[in-house]
Amino acid sequence: MRKNIVAGNWKMNTTVAEGIELAKAVAAKSSEVPASVKLIIAPPFTHLVPVAEAIKGSCVGLSAQNCADKEKGAYTGEVAADMLVSAGCGYTILGHSERRQYYGETDEKLVVKVKLAIANGLSPIFCVGENLDEREAGRHFDVVSAQVKNVLYTLSAEEMAKVIIAYEPVWAIGTGKTATAEQAQEIHACIRKVVAEKFGDLADEITILYGGSCKPSNAKELFACPDIDGGLIGGASLKADDFIAIALSF
Ligand code: 13P
Repeated sequence: MRKNIVAGNWKMNTTVAEGIELAKAVAAKSSEVPASVKLIIAPPFTHLVPVAEAIKGSCVGLSAQNCADKEKGAYTGEVAADMLVSAGCGYTILGHSERRQYYGETDEKLVVKVKLAIANGLSPIFCVGENLDEREAGRHFDVVSAQVKNVLYTLSAEEMAKVIIAYEPVWAIGTGKTATAEQAQEIHACIRKVVAEKFGDLADEITILYGGSCKPSNAKELFACPDIDGGLIGGASLKADDFIAIALSF
């Protein structure tokens, strides 16, 4: 049985004090969420250590939003995978569309990052998704399949077993426009098929999250789809009540 996960990507929001408060509120309410649903929060780098302390003793997992494509050394401004582990992370988001779009993150770089994350004991939350032009041109299946193949096909089955995939259509991120449950399900099924072509039955064990304007009012319909195993939540993860309400939507 694959895991249901609701992960909150805080992006570049909250001060350290606000982040600690939000993390404490999520941890306090996390007992309302059934054990079958894993909650994860992904604050900015500066917040990881105090947030790890704030969620200690709860079942909430800690994720970073990115990690370096190098192990250590003279790479000013970068944060390595083993540093994230030492700060208390079990996960890191990789390949978010905002990093691909604004910071030039390529599939080649993501191959290195995903492998380094796994080698250091992190589960990558690997993001894929098409932009509006690609969707309107009917190229969404091809674009997403290529993103999956270019990066995840380089992994061994043992490495792949650690990966969580997040499908985030770029046109739905922060726009209030959600993919319909039908649009999301058909892409999730396609992603699982592409994973199965390389990794066989392991594809049934891989958690595939939906992200893009997911909120308490639409989570139930999305999570009811057979290939949608949870959500990667942006805006709505900044309010503990909304985040928990999403996690209660299974
Ligand atoms: P929103 O939920 O704000 O649309 O963001 C989704 C996202 O990008 C999560 O990684």
